[in-house]
Amino acid sequence: MKISREKSFMVDPFLFLYIVTILLTIAHVSGDSNTTTEIPKEFTAVPGQLNTRFEPLLTDSNGIFAFGFLPIGPTKLDLAIIHLPSSQPIWRAGPSILPNWASTTTFSFDGNLVLTDTSIQKQPLWSSNSEGGDFVDLQRTSNLQINKFAGEDTPVWQSFDHPFDTLVQGQNLTSLASLTTSDKQYAFRIRSPYIALYMILSGDQEVNYWRHAALKAASERDIYAQVNATGFLGIYNLTDGYRLDVIPFDSFQRGVVGFHRLTIQSDGNLYAYYWDNKTWNLVYVAVTEPCGLPGKCGSYGLCVPGKSVCSCLVNGTDGCLQTDSGDFCGTNSNDFTVVRKSGVTVEYTDIMVTEHVSSLADCENICQSNCSCWGALFVSTTNNCYMMDYPIQTLEAAGDTHQGYFKVRPHGAAGGAKNGHKTVIAIVVIFTLIFAALAAYGGYWFWERKRNRLPRVNLGGQPSQEMTPGPYRDLKTMPT
Ligand SMILES: *[C@@H]1O[C@H](CO)[C@@H](O)[C@H](O)[C@H]1NC(C)=O
Ligand SMILES: *[C@@H]1O[C@H](CO)[C@@H](O)[C@H](O)[C@H]1NC(C)=O
Ligand SMILES: *[C@@H]1O[C@H](CO)[C@@H](O)[C@H](O)[C@H]1NC(C)=O
Ligand SMILES: *[C@@H]1O[C@H](CO)[C@@H](O)[C@H](O)[C@H]1NC(C)=O
Repeated sequence: MKISREKSFMVDPFLFLYIVTILLTIAHVSGDSNTTTEIPKEFTAVPGQLNTRFEPLLTDSNGIFAFGFLPIGPTKLDLAIIHLPSSQPIWRAGPSILPNWASTTTFSFDGNLVLTDTSIQKQPLWSSNSEGGDFVDLQRTSNLQINKFAGEDTPVWQSFDHPFDTLVQGQNLTSLASLTTSDKQYAFRIRSPYIALYMILSGDQEVNYWRHAALKAASERDIYAQVNATGFLGIYNLTDGYRLDVIPFDSFQRGVVGFHRLTIQSDGNLYAYYWDNKTWNLVYVAVTEPCGLPGKCGSYGLCVPGKSVCSCLVNGTDGCLQTDSGDFCGTNSNDFTVVRKSGVTVEYTDIMVTEHVSSLADCENICQSNCSCWGALFVSTTNNCYMMDYPIQTLEAAGDTHQGYFKVRPHGAAGGAKNGHKTVIAIVVIFTLIFAALAAYGGYWFWERKRNRLPRVNLGGQPSQEMTPGPYRDLKTMPT
């Protein structure tokens, strides 16, 4: 219970600051600046004074969308397209290194969109990798395009082909692109015949925790998805545009006229909203049970459905045990301990690697002897055994017909038993040093207090009694 309360307050202060900054930022944006609707060749721009405002460079002809410099955190920026009435960013260039909001940063167009910060590196931090364009404009759909004056109708490059975390209505999402959170931890992808959500772990490991199969899709056909203005996510055949499936939003067939978008958010869930000229209305959520999100309670965390309360399957030093990446293959294949837990499952067993087994022991054996297996879930009513070939993420509390088997790396991970031993020694040494330091400090404090008694009395105040020897008592309960 205690843990769960703490969990819910564990908002990263930097993330919080960052969100507040963005919100403040964006609240100030207005369409009043004298931006153009076309960027010509040889255009360059440098961000103005460091402030918390979006700095538009280009707007669409209706003045609904703008392209420009978006402040990220207190000192960085990104190129972005925002929806002006709501100040909502709907596209970002998303370079892996963000440039500083400083005069060293330049945006330019020479047929190729280029973002450079010479204080970081000479080479561009981001570019559209295109050539031969004559001008840039922002379509009324919010699509940023590099076009030619004459010749082909198709643009040289368009932002619609390079989405960030959002798909706007009319924009196609194919298997060539994906929506990702800005921390690159989660992705929404097209994997014919599915659309799916993934958690991305280091070392190429991924957790697929949500999947929707296009109703009429044959697996060999390539599909794409598009948000429809009447309130649904359509899934289409790439070759002929034939509609294979419809995922309706709450706004579907309600006669609403508004601008729809689909966004993957930092919790890893996929949301659809429509703008009714006043606010963004939430009209769709992909994962409806919050405990179904693998990051909900962190690694080795346990989530209680309905309440979204978190506790730990395995305790760590600060919250639940943190997982390493990788697997148990190689020389340290047997270097793990096992945690068994009754009454745990995940929401997404139906899309996991499944083995039909005759008993819980069989299920455990399969996982135990497979070095890429991190854990297995057994359901006694069906005799299904579900394999987790990735470090254990949030599990969900369930009935006793569900059994869990989980591998736990010894502290210090990859190095094996010797390293584990070293870690224990290190911990003992650290605690001893802390104890020594505290003891020394305590002695010093006692001495100081004695020494200072006279002057304090002279000043007419009581000596401070706040500093009670609390640390000593705590130390006794410390593990060594
Ligand atoms: C845009 O604004 C700047 C300064 O606010 C001004 O110097 C410039 O002439 C304006 N340009 C146009 C096209 O109005
Ligand atoms: C989306 O894909 C369809 C089918 O390939 C195509 O006809 C349409 O022009 C595309 N839309 C955009 C905005 O690229
Ligand atoms: C983890 O710690 C909490 C509180 O310190 C305790 O209630 C819980 O039983 C522990 N869980 C395990 C699996 O050790
Ligand atoms: C081990 O598990 C992985 C993932 O579940 C599976 O792909 C692989 O075939 C298994 N290996 C063996 C030897 O069973």
